[in-house]
Amino acid sequence: MSKLKWGILSTGTIAKNFAQTARDMGDISLHAVASRNVEAADAFGDAYGIAVRHASYEALAHDKDVDIVYVATPHSRHYEDMKLLIGAGKHVMCEKSFTTDARQAAEIFALAQEKGVFVMEAFWTKFIPLYRQIERIIAEGIIGEIRMVTALYGYTTGRQARKFDATLAGGTLLDIGVYTIGFACMMLGYQMDAIGSMLLLNGEGTDATDAITLRKGNAVAQLTCAIGANTPVHGAVYGTKGHIDIPDFKNPQCATLYVDGQAPVSLEHPFEVNGFEYEIREAERCVQEGRLQSDVMTGEQTVAVMRIMDEIRRQNGMHFPFER
Ligand SMILES: NC(=O)c1ccc[n+]([C@@H]2O[C@H](COP(=O)([O-])OP(=O)(O)OC[C@H]3O[C@@H](n4cnc5c(N)ncnc54)[C@H](OP(=O)(O)O)[C@@H]3O)[C@@H](O)[C@H]2O)c1
Repeated sequence: MSKLKWGILSTGTIAKNFAQTARDMGDISLHAVASRNVEAADAFGDAYGIAVRHASYEALAHDKDVDIVYVATPHSRHYEDMKLLIGAGKHVMCEKSFTTDARQAAEIFALAQEKGVFVMEAFWTKFIPLYRQIERIIAEGIIGEIRMVTALYGYTTGRQARKFDATLAGGTLLDIGVYTIGFACMMLGYQMDAIGSMLLLNGEGTDATDAITLRKGNAVAQLTCAIGANTPVHGAVYGTKGHIDIPDFKNPQCATLYVDGQAPVSLEHPFEVNGFEYEIREAERCVQEGRLQSDVMTGEQTVAVMRIMDEIRRQNGMHFPFER
């Protein structure tokens, strides 16, 4: 198959990051961009050297030259945007959080299966190469049986109103809580035995500060995240014989392995570009090989994380306006 032609749906913050990364990778073909307004599409096309600019998402979905579309709209739109694209026969890589709930996510994977197209959540953490080393260390029993996982992630932003907007399915949980939950699942597996949580809701009815506790067998994960407080971004996994410390756990290039009674060992895997390149390469590989899902980040795993977030929102009475 010749080079895949990518389309980009939206011209926002992470769409720009994607376009810049794809350019820096050197071998990715950015064919088209779509915005809800033509000026934004043109400006984006000019900035990233993309020849075809569409003034609607529908026009991109029906651009017969486009093979695969990167969806980078707010959470509230992902489901409808993916349905439009998959219905038009496009392969899709969609930003996290994949949808607003597990039912929608399962429906999207079923639809993609039916239409014979590839779909994957752009959960970039999962594709970071350092995690393959960390998984091997855990599988070999080097830190013993896992007993505890921790993750901490908080930031402040001038875009707080947009980030908390309930009509866009905003709030800390779907924005960054998903990283902490995804990390816990990577360490413990995706089916938890128990889910506990405390979300502090803001005036918008979405969550600002979250404490989440998950249990799998004999291990507990304690996850804390916030929009409105800067914290170190930090993850760790603790076993009966040692632990692994993972600064910047959402996109790590280095970590430290501590085995009890031994000197610490540095683990490193520098990025080729900025860490986003690995999910892009995975999507390209899967489509070229005719796969409908990635086995690094499967549909089942995406749905499992959405199910955990559904349960956390249920426990805290957090509903989006369009769900009422
Ligand atoms: N992987 C990561 O590290 C990472 C980082 C940040 C965000 N994300 C994810 O990427 C997605 C987009 O986040 P973002 O920070 O890029 O958002 P953003 O800067 O607000 O951009 C979102 C874009 O979506 C389009 N859009 C369509 N309907 C909209 C509406 N009703 N309100 C606002 N925008 C609308 C707009 O593009 P047009 O005007 O061109 O149509 C807008 O520029 C989210 O799922 C987020 O969680 C991922």
